[in-house]
Order: sequence, then structure tokens, then C-alpha cells
Amino acid sequence: MSREGERLLHEMGLGPVWKLRAKPAAAMPPEDAAVATPVAVAVPAPELAAVTATAAPVATMSWDELAATVAACRLCPLCAARKQAVLGVGDRNADWLFVGEGPGAEEDQRGEPFVGQAGKLLDNMLAAIGLKRGQDVYIANAVKCRPPENRTPTTEETATCRPYLARQIELLQPRLIVALGRPAAQTLLQSDVKIAAARGKIHDYRGIPLIVSYHPAYLLRTLLDKAKAWEDLCFMRRTMQTRKDT
Ligand code: URA
Repeated sequence: MSREGERLLHEMGLGPVWKLRAKPAAAMPPEDAAVATPVAVAVPAPELAAVTATAAPVATMSWDELAATVAACRLCPLCAARKQAVLGVGDRNADWLFVGEGPGAEEDQRGEPFVGQAGKLLDNMLAAIGLKRGQDVYIANAVKCRPPENRTPTTEETATCRPYLARQIELLQPRLIVALGRPAAQTLLQSDVKIAAARGKIHDYRGIPLIVSYHPAYLLRTLLDKAKAWEDLCFMRRTMQTRKDT
């Protein structure tokens, strides 16, 4: 790896590649494996009724309508345990859109995506390619409400929430979408994506290039893949440059 690569990995908070680290207490599942077993949350049937803040269909909503609708959404069981729905954060004219999995405990508390440990790493990854949260960058999640115990959202939950993400993308019109982790990639690409096979390629989301990479939470657990994450960041940066040049 070049000195520049090492410097930026350091900036990502990932330290030198060769540094010997203590073995994790238990083997972590690979990014491609389901991170946790989905647990169904029982919500009384009437609670699952569509509750929208406006009468407009999601596909035609303004940002304000979308924000109000997501805040009031009770379309899936995730609404039962959330403190608040987390729509997304950042520049609504951004060229870059990063999509994660779903809010965790801190995100649920603060109402902003990626503010916990994984978020700090994401901020460092952004800095490594000259980006900053809120400046030409928008950050969202595949599901807007926190899955209990930080489990992986079910396919039903991501499918129910997908129109909100689709509308965000429609309103943003980013030049490049980065799907962080498998749930985000599968939600956006609507196929059974495996991160290892999908990274390093340009995918298509309704005419917008989409790049798949590792979720920051996975990188925090799996330091061996940090060099691949760095390759992905370089690939993203090159792809964006090409998009701007053409
Ligand atoms: N992980 C995610 O996928 N999204 C968040 O907002 C926080 C952690």
C-alpha cells in the first residue's frame, strides 16, 4: 500500500495495516452473513395501518411532506420500539449519497444517522476522500426506524421503507450512491447481493451509478478488510471524478 493509502487509513481511524491486534473474543460473522436473526415484533393490527401526515403519494412528496410522513409512519413493526424515525442528514443538493442499514441506539436517540461508533468511522472514511458530512454529502438508511437489539432489518421492513428511500433519491438526484453493507445494497439493487462479489463494480440504481462497500460497523469488527475499504474509497473517488468530467 502506498504512503498516501496508509496515511488515509490512519485518518479513517484504522491504524497501520501490519499492526498486530488482539484476537476478538468471538469470531464475527462475515459481512455477507446475516448479522443477527430477525426477531418479529408484535404490533397490534390497527397500529400497522397506513398513517401518513399528508394525503400525497410518497413518490410525489416534497422534502417537508416526506419528513412529516416518515416521522409519523407506522407501516411496519419497527415503529413500536423507536424513539423517533431517522430520515437522513446532509446536503439536499449533494453529489454523494451514502446509505446504511438502519439507526442504532444513538441514532434513535439523536434523530441523526451514523452518530455512534460506526458513524465516527464513516466520518473518517469521508475525510479520507476529502468529504465532510453535510457538505456535498447526504447520509440515509435503508430503514428509518431502529431495529430492536440492532438486529438486521427484515426484507419486509426494508421493502416497506423502500419508497421513502426511493423518494429521497429522487429528490436528491445524487451523482453517486454508495451502499454500505448488504441490507443497503440489497434494498437498492433488489437482488441477493454479496458484498465481496459486488464491490469494485459500478451498479445501476435507476440510471444513477451505485457502488457497494463494507458497512463501517463491520469494518470496526473486521480490521483485516480495511485495505479493501480503502480500495473502495479510491474507486468511489475515481468514479465521482469521471462523472464530473463527463
Ligand atoms: N448503522 C447504520 O447502518 N446506520 C446508522 O445510522 C447507524 C449505524
